Amino acid sequence: MTERRFDRQRRLSRMAGMNPRVPREPGRTLDPERRLRGLVQLEDDEPAEAGAPLGRLGRRLGPKGRFLVVAVFIGVAITMGSIYWDRWSNESATAADHANPAQVALGHTLYDQHCAFCHGPDLAGKPGWDGDYPSGGRPPLPLDGTGAIARLGDRDLFDVTKFGGQPFSPPTYKNDMPGFEGRLADADIWAILAFVKSRWPEEVRERQKEAAKEREG
Ligand code: HEC
Repeated sequence: MTERRFDRQRRLSRMAGMNPRVPREPGRTLDPERRLRGLVQLEDDEPAEAGAPLGRLGRRLGPKGRFLVVAVFIGVAITMGSIYWDRWSNESATAADHANPAQVALGHTLYDQHCAFCHGPDLAGKPGWDGDYPSGGRPPLPLDGTGAIARLGDRDLFDVTKFGGQPFSPPTYKNDMPGFEGRLADADIWAILAFVKSRWPEEVRERQKEAAKEREG
């Protein structure tokens, strides 16, 4: 019983290479120092197995190259961040800000898709807009600030775009401005109006503000 246990212990300590009484077989030494030296050598020969591609690339790039890579990385991060910020603020917009380039850019795209067909890519309306159609309605009006658009406040412009012109016209008048409710989100309509207003001369935007003040006061 005791002998067997001793045997097992001997076997264990021999496997661990710790029993000085057990003769070491050549080539299978577990001398920690030698192993360490072996490792160090390994590192010198083929550097950092796992990080090798990066390490080698880093060395090939040199300090300037590494700086450039880091700079590009930071640049990309900032760009992505601002894109998401713009998108977030566009989606939650509740007003038309003609001085907000991101909102105006979105509005431009949406205008081309939904409004340009009738109001013209340059917002000039259809020729003959200042007359009436024989049928009773009117051609698409200019949205570029010519005409009388400044009489409408931002909220009016929004409502006409969302619900169409008919609800705001006498029942006997046929208004051909379609409503975009269900086709455009509110924030998209605000973006289109931001783009539209960015095309107005400053003087027209001032006139619109004055008209709104007069209506309120
Ligand atoms: C199918 C053609 C058509 C499309 C598409 C269209 N409109 Fe119109 N729009 C009209 C017509 C026609 C009028 C004039 C209605 C009237 O006064 O009888 C008008 C009038 C307006 C007015 C009122 C202008 C004023 O001075 O009274 C606004 C604002 C307007 N449209 C904005 C838009 C916007 C923004 C879009 C795109 C989201 C758009 N429209 C798309 C035909 C269109």
